[in-house]
Amino acid sequence: MTARILDGNQIAREMRGEIRQRVETLKERGVVPGLGVLLVGDDPASRSYVTAKERACEQAGIYSSEIRLSADATLAEILAVVNDFNRDARIHGILVQLPLPDGKMEQTVLEAIDPAKDVDGFHPVNVGKMMLGLPTFLPCTPHGILHILKRSGIETSGRHVVVVGRSNIVGRPLANMLSQKSAFGDATVTICHTRTRNLSDFTRSADILIAAAGRPNTITSDMLREGAVVIDVGVNRVEDATRERGYRLTGDVDFEAVKEKASAITPVPGGVGPMTITMLLYNTVESAERTLVET
Ligand code: GUN
Repeated sequence: MTARILDGNQIAREMRGEIRQRVETLKERGVVPGLGVLLVGDDPASRSYVTAKERACEQAGIYSSEIRLSADATLAEILAVVNDFNRDARIHGILVQLPLPDGKMEQTVLEAIDPAKDVDGFHPVNVGKMMLGLPTFLPCTPHGILHILKRSGIETSGRHVVVVGRSNIVGRPLANMLSQKSAFGDATVTICHTRTRNLSDFTRSADILIAAAGRPNTITSDMLREGAVVIDVGVNRVEDATRERGYRLTGDVDFEAVKEKASAITPVPGGVGPMTITMLLYNTVESAERTLVET
């Protein structure tokens, strides 16, 4: 079997078209959706994500304001930027690019974001609402994955989904959403992680296998059953002297071998990545729409 390629770029294009229309409607009603972005330090991957997010905002007609602080910025300096965004009526969504250079600050900074503007869905109030299945901002990468599955006609109800990776950004919220009683969920979910024994015993029983471990070649073709659906969340930079920039991007899955066994698979790049940014735009527009409902 050669897998169907689940084209995240194509799905993202469709959704961004829908988002642009919602932005137009908002503008007709006098509201320009706005995203505030804070980047601390100069990690190259973070810098390129932030640039991609800004470009996507511009294309969607969303106003964006970017603040960059140096890697040695103090907690007070970071919180001052977050508070300015919280107070700024032009800003409907706030994104603090993670990881912060000082990881110990992260939770304090995330908790300083107004939950009504927390378009990443990382504030504990929004994590709690997500967990309870209440309306909230869903974290962008897991939310994007749900849309890839839905829009590709891949049923989750009653299927066994194995998520490899337990991060707060991807693995755990995704497992939670997929297990909920909802049109995007109703799955039986197993979370695997670095302490899982005999990982392949679990992955081989997956109808849908989601690799979010952050390590190349975590999933090899012997680890899945014929016909499984594979979603690769990994974005790993590996050195490659043949490329002008000196590296190439690769996922967590051994794509070439796995695509011969899976029924469907997301590529890297061009799979989950474009959907993450799309869902950020989606949440920002939703936040702006809420201001109209509330007034
Ligand atoms: N770093 C990696 N993924 C994300 C994300 O979804 N949001 C933010 N803010 N930082 C990230």
